[in-house]
Amino acid sequence: ADRYAVFGNPIKHSKSPRIHAAFAEQTGEAVDYRAQLVELGTGVFEQQVEQFFAEGGKGLNITVPFKQNAWRMASWRSAAAERAGAVNTLYRNELGTLCGDNTDGVGLVCDLQNNNGISLKGARVLMLGAGGAVRGVLEPFLKAGAVEIVIANRTVAKAQELVELFSDLGQLSACGFEDIEARAFDVIVNGTSASLQGELPPLPDAIVGADSACYDMMYGAQPTPFCNWASQRGAAKVIDGLGMLIEQAAESFRIWRGVKPQTPELIAQIRAELS
Ligand code: ATR
Repeated sequence: ADRYAVFGNPIKHSKSPRIHAAFAEQTGEAVDYRAQLVELGTGVFEQQVEQFFAEGGKGLNITVPFKQNAWRMASWRSAAAERAGAVNTLYRNELGTLCGDNTDGVGLVCDLQNNNGISLKGARVLMLGAGGAVRGVLEPFLKAGAVEIVIANRTVAKAQELVELFSDLGQLSACGFEDIEARAFDVIVNGTSASLQGELPPLPDAIVGADSACYDMMYGAQPTPFCNWASQRGAAKVIDGLGMLIEQAAESFRIWRGVKPQTPELIAQIRAELS
């Protein structure tokens, strides 16, 4: 079987080996996918990536905290990766060039549109947060037809930086949580890591309307604080990030193997395993 792996730190709880094993079985592709802990320290990640490919490895997923390192290592980057400033998928092309892609944004767009029937065409979007997670999804959102994206962040200057980086692609603006305009958005995405601390940014109630779809990039066995908040305000759809996780994996698998796996059953299965 061809060898693949995910590199990160921590990595123990990664669901990627489970997900890719399911994709391999479903598609009949001979894929051996493992999780590998990479120690922190100058040059360690780079050395292990080199070694993995030198020993015949075919592709890597890269997770926290190495996505920027992977971006720097890649000699060729997809447009999405270039803009995201982060690479989560590495492989070598026929010439041996190390190529980097970023499938997080496509994963989120797929989960919204294909799995949850939420169209981004013409959508007015509110993005909460301005870190790497949000940066990775702006280009795919604008390419999927979002007509406006408001980026709200605790540190407004970081939201402003993203607006400047992506302003050539569409209508973007930045603000703090308290200054979000009191109007219903079509799609609200929580890309802050506040839920990791069980927290929720201070958000105006008026941003959720009866037709709003609310999406948390985080997920868990229990609804996240943001999902609970959105449900209580009567959002039309409330979705957590499990589907995004599985869709970004499916897109990496497609890049490596040329076959896009089916995802709905696997999402349901892994959902059931969470509790
Ligand atoms: P990631 O790669 O997951 O996006 P990150 O780049 O560290 O991680 O970004 C984390 C994001 O969550 C930032 O937008 C951060 O806000 P700041 O830019 O002001 O730091 C946001 N964040 C983290 N904890 C938060 C909290 N308790 N409340 C609100 N926002 C929070």
